[in-house]
Amino acid sequence: MEFQGSHILSIEPFERGDIEAVFDVADRMAPYAHRRKATRVLEGAILGNMFFEPSTRTRVSFGCAFNLLGGDVRETTGLQNSALAKGESLYDTARVLSGYSDVIAMRHPQEGSVAEFAVASRVPVINGGDGSNEHPTQALLDLYTIRKEIQSKGKTVDGLRIAMIGDLKYGRTVHSLCKLLRLYKNIKIVLISPKELMMPGELVESLREVGHEVIISDHLEDNIQHVDIAYSTRIQEERFSSPEEADLYRGRFRLNQAIYTQFCEPNTVIMHPLPRDSRSAARELDDDLNENPNLAIFRQADNGVLMRMALFALILDVVEQVDKYARDVPWYTSGRF
Ligand code: CP
Repeated sequence: MEFQGSHILSIEPFERGDIEAVFDVADRMAPYAHRRKATRVLEGAILGNMFFEPSTRTRVSFGCAFNLLGGDVRETTGLQNSALAKGESLYDTARVLSGYSDVIAMRHPQEGSVAEFAVASRVPVINGGDGSNEHPTQALLDLYTIRKEIQSKGKTVDGLRIAMIGDLKYGRTVHSLCKLLRLYKNIKIVLISPKELMMPGELVESLREVGHEVIISDHLEDNIQHVDIAYSTRIQEERFSSPEEADLYRGRFRLNQAIYTQFCEPNTVIMHPLPRDSRSAARELDDDLNENPNLAIFRQADNGVLMRMALFALILDVVEQVDKYARDVPWYTSGRF
């Protein structure tokens, strides 16, 4: 895969070697992402950070990643705050914004919208989530996190046992993650969801086609007993016709410390793309897991900065120059990483 000048719209074009290349660059970004060093390699470059749907960590981590490489960030947040609300087309929006930016990160509620935008863009576009379709950078940071977490337990992604739990129909992060896991060997995937919110059939088939074992269930406790990763997801309320419809499914698969202790293996890693729904009717990952050392959700979110720095460095072809523009930082660093 050629990264320089490329769009990142889907995880599908990635091969195993490409993933290794991204992960190697992400490792090299750690001193900068963790504020031990600063670099100005992208000084003068502008990221157009275009989020037409709510986001906390994807939008801010894209912006932080670009800033940490020395670049500037210009943002649009929300459809209503953009000229899309006045009837402007994605084509015109892309033609205009790509004149103001060197690279664009974009989220939009419609499936396929980021790809449509990219066709008209004059600069590389990175998909930050298009409807319930894909979230490729989340899949990369998820796999990076999985690899790191299980490596410390002497395991590899080949042979992984993972449970995906919750809204597997509308959850774009699990769609992209399944596509990525097709590249690895001998994986057991347990898909736990309400029957109405099952993983799309074509994704299940594509996993089976490459020889992975896929188990489909609507029971939590029986199916999280022998997995390395329990990957929980939120009911994607914004994809339902009303909050009341989402209420039918909220709170159906709650993982808390008591269930974890009773049913999970002692080292099972708990992941979630976030946001988790902490309202009392939902709580798919209970707050009482917060002190569990195997709760990886905040390490996972931290890895988003590393991953997005790596992608910017590869797309803008500055990987080998990052250290040349580096300096030590004079400010207090808390040692939080
Ligand atoms: N994981 C994720 O996409 O989070 P945000 O919606 O906050 O960006």
